[in-house]
Amino acid sequence: QQPVRIAPSILSADFARLGEEVAAIDAAGADYIHIDVMDGHFVPNITIGPAVVKALRPHSDKVFDCHLMVAPVDPFIAAFAEAGADIITVHAEAGPHLHRTLQLIKASGAKAGVSLNPATPAGVIEPVVEDLDLILVMSVNPGFGGQAFIEGQLRKVAELRRMIDKSGRAIDLEIDGGINPETARRACDAGADVLVAGTAAFKGGHNSYATNIAALRGTD
Ligand code: DX5
Ligand code: ZN
Repeated sequence: QQPVRIAPSILSADFARLGEEVAAIDAAGADYIHIDVMDGHFVPNITIGPAVVKALRPHSDKVFDCHLMVAPVDPFIAAFAEAGADIITVHAEAGPHLHRTLQLIKASGAKAGVSLNPATPAGVIEPVVEDLDLILVMSVNPGFGGQAFIEGQLRKVAELRRMIDKSGRAIDLEIDGGINPETARRACDAGADVLVAGTAAFKGGHNSYATNIAALRGTD
C-alpha cells in the first residue's frame, strides 16, 4: 500500500471553466486529475471525449487518470492516449475481451487500469493482474456524482489489497464514489491508496479546494 493519493473528479467541476478548474485543483494539491468519460450506453450519462482531454492537457502536469465508462471501448483507446491520458481505466464489464483491451492500452503508451462495478467480484482481476497498473473499485453505480457510498465494497477493496500484495506488483488500488473524509479513512484502512472524490473535492469553490484535499488526505 503506497501513500494515499487524491484524485479529484472533474465531473464535479464547473464545466464552463474546466481549464481553470483543473489548474486550481492541481494547485490545491491534487495528485491525479480524474476524468470521467461516459458514453450514454454503458452508463446513463454523457460527459467528456478525447477532444476535451486534449484541451485540458496544457492546464496541468499532474497524472491524467481517465476512467472510461464506455462500451465498446477499444476504438477509443488510441484517441485518449494521444490526447494526453497517463492512465486509461476500462470496465471489466464493458466487453468480452478484457485482456486484449489491456494490451491495446499498453501499446498506446498509457498505464492500464481495470474498474469493477459494485456487483462485479474481485476474482475477475486475478487472471490479468500481471497486466495491470491500477484497479478501480466503484463504490457507487457509475454514471453520476453525488451518490451514497456502498459499504460492502470495502470487503472487495480488502480482497484486492491481498491480491495486489501477493502479486508483488506496484498496482494502485483506487476507490471511486461517495468518498468524503470519513469514507476515505475507512477505504484506506481496507487497503485503498488512491481516492477519487468529486463532490467532496470541489465543494465550496476555489478557495476551499486545498482544505477539501487536506481533509480527504487526513492531514487537516
Ligand atoms: C461516477 C464517477 C465518479 C464520480 C464521483 O460514475 O466515476 O468519479 O464523479 O463523484 P462523487 O465523489 O461525488 O461520488
Ligand atoms: Zn470515476
